[in-house]
Amino acid sequence: MAMKNVLITGCSSGIGLAIAARLAKDDQKRFKVYATMRNLAKQDDLLKAAEEHVGKTLEIKQLDVCSEESIRNCVNSIPDRRVEILVSNAGMGLIGPIECQTIEEMQNVMDTNFFGLVRLLKEILPDMKKKKSGHIVIISSVMGIQGILFNDVYAASKFAVEGFCESLAIQALKFKLHLSLIEPGPVITEFERKVYEDGMKMDLSGADKETAEMFTNVYLKNYKSIFQSLGQTAEDVAEHTMKIILSDNPPFRHQTNTLYTPMTTLKYADPNGDLPIDTFYKMVFQHDKIFNASLNFIKLLRWRSKKSFDLGKNHS
Ligand SMILES: NC(=O)c1ccc[n+]([C@@H]2O[C@H](COP(=O)([O-])OP(=O)(O)OC[C@H]3O[C@@H](n4cnc5c(N)ncnc54)[C@H](OP(=O)(O)O)[C@@H]3O)[C@@H](O)[C@H]2O)c1
Repeated sequence: MAMKNVLITGCSSGIGLAIAARLAKDDQKRFKVYATMRNLAKQDDLLKAAEEHVGKTLEIKQLDVCSEESIRNCVNSIPDRRVEILVSNAGMGLIGPIECQTIEEMQNVMDTNFFGLVRLLKEILPDMKKKKSGHIVIISSVMGIQGILFNDVYAASKFAVEGFCESLAIQALKFKLHLSLIEPGPVITEFERKVYEDGMKMDLSGADKETAEMFTNVYLKNYKSIFQSLGQTAEDVAEHTMKIILSDNPPFRHQTNTLYTPMTTLKYADPNGDLPIDTFYKMVFQHDKIFNASLNFIKLLRWRSKKSFDLGKNHS
């Protein structure tokens, strides 16, 4: 069977790197991976993960999703411009009160997370339509279906991605193309570190005292704990993505974190939209002790299940 060409964006770290390495290492060599990043000086981690596959199942290329020229150059450098699977992964976060963020910072998030996908598709979709084959895999987020406190602009960028894809998916069916939105919950990557550090450094003087305190003493205080309790690894998300790519009939939406699914289910349970908002409000402001105790309990359960799994492995 011929190798399928897979173009992945944002492979310098995190989920993009993990997907690139996972597909390049496929035992059956089903994929030729074009792992792209905006800054090639950042390729060391990917090389560390999969250097032996470079020149065989892996090529590393420059691509900045905020530059049409860079996208075109990258696609033109692939033999016959053949991209059978596109994994749109590059993205960035932004947290904090909107009073303390500049419009430029917000535009940067939309430009990367939303228009980055649009630019990629403007370049790649016409070829896929002509061939009447292709799979577009988008790393969205649970925040593409549900907003979270102090993630207003990031959630908006992922909602934009989801609305765009939902519309496009109808047309894509006519051309026998597949679209799949991968929706992870918290994933422990550079993203988490960068977003937290930016939050800690944020100048909160533009916000009133109550909002500033809410951000620092409620949101930032619980941030690490949420990632430690509910967070997945990038490799885990890569495994889910590989399954979706290999599926004969890939789903339009796929959530990767079963611990998070009960929260997103609330959205569909109440057409008025009040249930998830009330639940988040109560969890954060009224039952914070129970919320924290639950996070610690989940952390303990995960630690114990990991321990028994490790023990099993060692004794096999
Ligand atoms: N981590 C989470 O909790 C989480 C949860 C749900 C969804 N996601 C989504 O998963 C995707 C990957 O994030 P991650 O967690 O793996 O974070 P990450 O480790 O920070 O990776 C983000 C990647 O995107 C790249 N990137 C940013 N702007 C770019 C641009 N203009 N052109 C090309 N590449 C660009 C970064 O490159 P540089 O190294 O050059 O900055 C980096 O390679 C994002 O779309 C994110 O929204 C993450």
